[in-house]
Amino acid sequence: MRLLGIETSCDETSVALVEDGRHILANVVASQVDVHARFGGVVPEIASRQHVESIGAILAAALSDAGVGFEAVDAVATTAGPGLQGALLVGLTAAKSVAFARGLPLVGVHHIHGHVAANFLTGASILFPALCLVVSGGHSDLILMQSEVELTVIGHTRDDAAGEALDKGARVLGLGYPGGPVIDRLARQGNPDAVPFPRTFLPGYDFSFSGIKTALLRQVQAGTALPVADLAASYQRAIVDMLAGQTMTAAREVGARQLLLAGGVAANTELRARMEAECAAAGLPFLVPPRNLCTDNAAMIAAAGYYLLRAGRKDDLSLNAVANLPLAAA
Ligand code: KG4
Ligand code: ZN
Repeated sequence: MRLLGIETSCDETSVALVEDGRHILANVVASQVDVHARFGGVVPEIASRQHVESIGAILAAALSDAGVGFEAVDAVATTAGPGLQGALLVGLTAAKSVAFARGLPLVGVHHIHGHVAANFLTGASILFPALCLVVSGGHSDLILMQSEVELTVIGHTRDDAAGEALDKGARVLGLGYPGGPVIDRLARQGNPDAVPFPRTFLPGYDFSFSGIKTALLRQVQAGTALPVADLAASYQRAIVDMLAGQTMTAAREVGARQLLLAGGVAANTELRARMEAECAAAGLPFLVPPRNLCTDNAAMIAAAGYYLLRAGRKDDLSLNAVANLPLAAA
């Protein structure tokens, strides 16, 4: 079964064609990052307008990359939320249009479910119950998976998401936007033990990154003489320590049979290496998507949509975009 996936929840316009939730036939991602960079973050209204301008061409490009026409599409999956309301509406409307014109099944996908499903595109089989750490610009969630579609959030951030903490940290260090990839690169040349940033381990499996953000700000305001690479490396090390610590505790306590990593921050070199090492030490199989499938893309939405359809989920043309859609409703 071939699913057309559409993702426009933030600043990437993406359309993909995926077979049986596992094989990518096309995955076109048009990033707006250059348009938003001069504002230091995503400007919602500009994002919506950019999506409107490019969605038609990206849709055509995806079909062309796959070497097929609309007749090869069996169903349509689109991000229904969470995300920027205006941005979500563009992809949702495109998806409804294709579904209506071709008489195809339509399924709305929760964006975080999409991030989790990027792991299915590796082709590896998943051992349930599995635990997935989803770390993106908007979320830091620990998700217990009983199957490809039964997801329960067992931990989440009480304040900033991990990606948000990295982006804000980069801004404090004057490194530009988006900060995650810059900190990732710079940290390789720095000393991660230069600054003993505080680590927060809340009871249960929740995260908090506001303390470390303030600590970095104070350090910079006090006029530190440390090289910026040392600050970046120490800041990143503290965030990775917190993520890995809570995740491994949760994995042990819930009896996870496999550990998955997902979301834009899963592209981070140190986090990938740390999770892999911790899982190896714990004898736990570990799975992480290739970097290009960690950040926002439509193939992951098609992968999640495939399993939702298989489980009997189907939406009609009244499907709406919900900016703060809870995972349970997906
Ligand atoms: O999942 P994503 O593409 O969009 C959201 O759903 O939010 O994640 C974007 C986030 C940004 O905060 C970005 O700085 C971060 O992922 N990110 C990284 C890396 N690449 C992207 N953070 C750390 N290291 C990276 N290599
Ligand atoms: Zn995302």
